[in-house]
Amino acid sequence: MKDRSTMTPQQREVASVFHSWSAQSTLNPLMVKSAHGVYVTDENDTTYMDFSSQLVNTNIGHQHPSVVRAIQEQAALLCTIAPQHGNEQRYRAAELIIDHSFEGATKVFFTNGGTEAVEHAVRMARLHTGRPKVLAAYRSYHGATATSINLTGDPRRWPNDNGASGVVHFFGPFLYRSAYNATSEQEECERAIANLENIITFEGPNAFAAIILETVPGTAGIMVPPPGYLAGVRALCDKYGIIYIADEVMCGFGRTGSWFAYQNFGVAPDLVAFAKGVNSGYVPLGGVVINEAVAATFNDRVYPGGLTYSGHPLACAAAVASINAMQNEHIVENARRIGEEVLRPALGELAQKHQVIGDVRGLGVFFALDLVTNRSTREPLAPYGASSTAMNELVGACRDEGLLIFNNFNRLHVVPPCNVTDDEAREGLARLDRALKVADQYYVG
Ligand SMILES: Cc1ncc(COP(=O)(O)O)c(C=O)c1O
Repeated sequence: MKDRSTMTPQQREVASVFHSWSAQSTLNPLMVKSAHGVYVTDENDTTYMDFSSQLVNTNIGHQHPSVVRAIQEQAALLCTIAPQHGNEQRYRAAELIIDHSFEGATKVFFTNGGTEAVEHAVRMARLHTGRPKVLAAYRSYHGATATSINLTGDPRRWPNDNGASGVVHFFGPFLYRSAYNATSEQEECERAIANLENIITFEGPNAFAAIILETVPGTAGIMVPPPGYLAGVRALCDKYGIIYIADEVMCGFGRTGSWFAYQNFGVAPDLVAFAKGVNSGYVPLGGVVINEAVAATFNDRVYPGGLTYSGHPLACAAAVASINAMQNEHIVENARRIGEEVLRPALGELAQKHQVIGDVRGLGVFFALDLVTNRSTREPLAPYGASSTAMNELVGACRDEGLLIFNNFNRLHVVPPCNVTDDEAREGLARLDRALKVADQYYVG
């Protein structure tokens, strides 16, 4: 056996734990010991404000007492149960999720997380329609398992893409970096829809089982769709018999100031993949909300899929407690109000002060800063698919200020918990303001 007595906790972590999405020799993880609300504390007792909500999943903050209690109580009663049996926490969680979903939402299939939710949504759509192909957007992330990573429209797909996944990618609307040379939201929207219909026509109108879209793309940049875009997608799905899958893994459960992000845009998908905020990740859980028509496909026909831990009682108990806490404490309403009254105006002020902020976009507690070296050319502060010295220094400066923030390529995402208070939000933004001075040096104008 190895003698580990002289190793630091961080050394022990990197020596024995294989980390996601990383070259293992470059790891430098923050060693987190405890957390509460919007705060996390490391092994050296330094406390940080968590404006990343970890991987944008702690929608009710850390260690919410009623969720912790529900997990403890369920653990004392029944830790685990096979999926073929029934369980009260499982059906209660499904009922609560259905009650907050679109009209016609009928059933919930539970998974262990987001990528499995996406896998099963696509499998259901393929079996329901009898068609093979799926449409997915560039600038998207759908998960890390075989189908989901092939749906993903970012460079993480490339090493995993076998070229035979049946996925066809397209550009969604994103005016700030328009793929359509558009000059207004309306033009961007019209061109994106026209392009999507062209792709369907030229790939074969009967070829597609599903379109999968993050309602508001998350990791890829928090691009809020322009008015009419999602309604246009819904209309194309209806016209060509395509299943509309909303990936709400990141944007669901209050993040955008609505229970589900699609509710901001007045559309109803056919299937919804969810995870993260359903119980803030206290115990891993994801799932698919299924409409009547797709659910009916499997009334008499066996669904060829399942999971040992589908509807795990600890995870479902956490979901029931979390959804109830969100209702009772008006956490979704808080996310909406904080977004409009605190984050949007304050981030706008930061953009006036720091020229390196090229664009501020988002809603609820879901905002992105698109950082540039030049506002006219919109040259990103790190190239697409990569990092840069400037971005690394900026993220380091945030940490020095006691702020954990989500970053991707040339962007920072301001994504605190949905129950962040006004004072906490302002304090976090003050820390961000100070950290941004580091990035200002890289603005060349
Ligand atoms: C939109 C979206 N879909 C799917 C996933 C995959 O979820 P998980 O990491 O739980 O598998 C993520 C994770 O970040 C996501 O943001």
